[in-house]
Amino acid sequence: MSQFEDRAKEALSKPQNVGEMADADSVGTVGSPDCGDMLRMWLKFTEKDGKKVIDRASFQAFGCQTAIAVASMATELLKGKTPEEARNLQPNELSGDLGPLPPMKIHCGQLVEQALKSALDGKDAPQKKASDTLLGNLQPQSGKIKIVPLDESNS
Ligand code: FES
Repeated sequence: MSQFEDRAKEALSKPQNVGEMADADSVGTVGSPDCGDMLRMWLKFTEKDGKKVIDRASFQAFGCQTAIAVASMATELLKGKTPEEARNLQPNELSGDLGPLPPMKIHCGQLVEQALKSALDGKDAPQKKASDTLLGNLQPQSGKIKIVPLDESNS
């Protein structure tokens, strides 16, 4: 197993900042055309030394393990960044301690990058209803898709 896979596995054993944020200032949702995975990110801002900075970030994902591991890392390292600093982060920076993404996994990091940019742009209205979750938006139409939520009790 590669170093990246080892680190991703460790990050997945205790993902950080999973779940919707009831008092978020901004929300963004994206889907990958490559694999069909989806990721939503919530941001809460605060003011520090007269500057607007990210106070907290959280995410929900219906995606591969790499996207979840990167989103977990990214939501941690976004804390204290200005929107401009956050917008300039590249997928390989968002992956933090996971290290550079293997070529096959670049688009997984890009999914996180795009969700962040979408949230910074305020693409989605902040979630008002507890029922308005990513899972709620993804209820299968045909009954052929099975969605299995992450169960934190398994970690
Ligand atoms: Fe779809 Fe990783 S395979 S985001």
